[in-house]
Amino acid sequence: MSQAETSRGDQSATPNGVLQPGTASAGDDLLAVNAVNVHKFFGRTHVLKGIDMQVRPSEVVCLIGPSGSGKTTFLRCINQLEEINGGRIWVNGELMGYYEKNGRLHVLDDAAKARQRRPIGMVFQRFNLFPHMTAVQNIIEAPTQVLGISKSEATDEAMNLLEQVGLADRAQNYPSQLSGGQQQRVAIARALAMHPQLMLFDEPTSALDPELVGDVLKVMRDLAEEGMTMVVVTHEMAFARDVADRVVFMDAGKVVEQGTPAEVINHPSQERTQQFLSRMVSDPHV
Ligand SMILES: Nc1ncnc2c1ncn2[C@@H]1O[C@H](COP(=O)(O)OP(=O)(O)OP(=O)(O)O)[C@@H](O)[C@H]1O
Ligand SMILES: [Mg+2]
Repeated sequence: MSQAETSRGDQSATPNGVLQPGTASAGDDLLAVNAVNVHKFFGRTHVLKGIDMQVRPSEVVCLIGPSGSGKTTFLRCINQLEEINGGRIWVNGELMGYYEKNGRLHVLDDAAKARQRRPIGMVFQRFNLFPHMTAVQNIIEAPTQVLGISKSEATDEAMNLLEQVGLADRAQNYPSQLSGGQQQRVAIARALAMHPQLMLFDEPTSALDPELVGDVLKVMRDLAEEGMTMVVVTHEMAFARDVADRVVFMDAGKVVEQGTPAEVINHPSQERTQQFLSRMVSDPHV
């Protein structure tokens, strides 16, 4: 579909004519995520400059890169929390954010976008639990409200999930009564309660005290071993090395290189990757 055939009208900023929802490539049904030539602007700032990224089902992809390189923005685009200004993103073969009619692309309405977003779980850097709800109430909220599951069934599942993340005894605690790591594990359980096919993690451990990081990473390792498809933005290089099938290094809105952890982390081919990794060693909070 060409740029002229799209019908986004005045939907959003379209600087420099970059708006072009992709070339004619079809979404590959075998891919969990297929991002093709994704562009994103904030005002005049070109934040994503043609990102291509493919994730196969059950694959764990770690996204690394310096602050401001666009990692969070890209995750938010996959989940349609941000509208893209060019390119296309398919999740499980479904074109995100648009529908096609008479050869033209039209922007989906909010309800349809919400439906598309449902199989995607996201865990943010800052735990964003509802403060006035207990752990178990946080977990059953969406399944009961959005999926229409009965409260007793949702509660049974929530208890199983709390057990899975090592917090069976914390079900009745409010977020303020939980450590950051515990809150983050509840946030993961809450995302899992929606039976996601894809989990997006945005630096889930970077706001935690160091002694709390391990428990959260363990939950993520377990999920990966169970075959969950995961895209993980992280500065935890040991986690990326051990758990990722693929590591993608982004800088300044572009994918600079990608490959196995051994290739990218141990033997980066690009100078920018080498610089980033050597800074990570001296200061893991770059
Ligand atoms: N809502 C927004 N409005 C304007 N600019 C934004 C917005 N969100 C992000 N940006 C800009 O987009 C660029 C990429 O930001 P992003 O948060 O995606 O980077 P990041 O790689 O996740 O960085 P970090 O490692 O610090 O989390 C930055 O220059 C940022 O200032
Ligand atoms: Mg970020």
